Amino acid sequence: MFSQRLSSRLQQHAAENLVRERVVLTSPQQVAVQVNGQSMLSFCSNDYLGLANDPRVVEAFKKGAELYGVGSGASQLISGHSAAHRDLEQQFAQFLGRDRALLFNNGYMANVGVLQALTQKNDVIYEDKFNHASLIDAGLLSSAKMLRYAHHNLNHLEALLGQPVAGQKFIVTDGVFSMGGDLAPLPKLVALAKKYDACLIVDDAHGIGVLGAGRGILQHFNLSQEDVPVLICPLGKAFGGFGAIVAGNSIMIDSLIQFARTYIYTTAIPPALAYAVQASLSIIQEEPERCQYLQSLIAYFKACVEAHQLSFLSSDTAIQSLIVGDADATLALQEALKDQGFLVGGIRPPTVPKNTGRLRITLSVLHTKAHIDQLIATLSHIRRDQCQQI
Ligand SMILES: Cc1ncc(COP(=O)(O)O)c(C=O)c1O
Repeated sequence: MFSQRLSSRLQQHAAENLVRERVVLTSPQQVAVQVNGQSMLSFCSNDYLGLANDPRVVEAFKKGAELYGVGSGASQLISGHSAAHRDLEQQFAQFLGRDRALLFNNGYMANVGVLQALTQKNDVIYEDKFNHASLIDAGLLSSAKMLRYAHHNLNHLEALLGQPVAGQKFIVTDGVFSMGGDLAPLPKLVALAKKYDACLIVDDAHGIGVLGAGRGILQHFNLSQEDVPVLICPLGKAFGGFGAIVAGNSIMIDSLIQFARTYIYTTAIPPALAYAVQASLSIIQEEPERCQYLQSLIAYFKACVEAHQLSFLSSDTAIQSLIVGDADATLALQEALKDQGFLVGGIRPPTVPKNTGRLRITLSVLHTKAHIDQLIATLSHIRRDQCQQI
């Protein structure tokens, strides 16, 4: 009976062309990847600064394992908190210009832990509709009420904020939206948060390392800790590692240490990872040209798609998306590119709303302009062929 239920759900999923498959990489995360034995050019990793396989980061990871072993052995509050964890937190607090920072096991757990620990029953959380699934889940799992406002629609948000609330209000947003690459209107959100006495929480997964000379979206908009009291920075993307930093003032960090269940009730992230991310952080600080080069690639990509009259969503970040439409068409385009040796994400519901299936292209400092030329020329050809077939 139970198997039947699962099987009919899977069949329905397949009938809607929504099945996702894992490709097997037999190479490290880099631009030229080996997929199922085939060499492909990848445009779908979030390794924006090319640090996931940087020899210095790999070396630090090995050294961290020599110093601390592999497993952390316990949760942070028992005996799993090593000097590598502590040092990374201190270095991040300084890098971000915040009082303190706390290392969670990943971005998903940081988001769930933050919203669970900082909210109470009579509170209300206001989330942008296009927030990452981990923030939406975090809101649903918290004991506060969650309301979602239409993407970027500040009038809608203000109408919701205007309603009386017995407890505290929280505005929660992605910094850079993960499926469109667009930026949250943070200065306006800061103004609304001040007007309605709300606490602003920003998940900068795709801005940290990329915007604001590597310091992320708050630096990009010149915003302070008072403007955005809770900043979340997942480390699996531009930092090429794993884990997530939450940064803010001492009372907030102490509250997370004492009350965030996803921080307390889990084995600490391996110390070697914290050690490796310290190397990534040093590289980002010492080599600002990485960030500058990425910005120049983004500008080049935008100029290319304009020259080929491909209408991508407006984005100045490493995430560039082309809306394709329904799931069938999105999958067909992804597969056509795959046949030509390009690994690109075809994103379908439920990750994005129905009929907004898209090609999500991500850029990395490991790309060259020639890589972009090849991709855009191929994409443009395929699109032209597909249009002629319609
Ligand atoms: C905006 C955003 N927040 C959080 C996460 C989750 O972070 P992690 O992969 O570290 O769990 C992701 C993607 O993975 C993301 O895109």
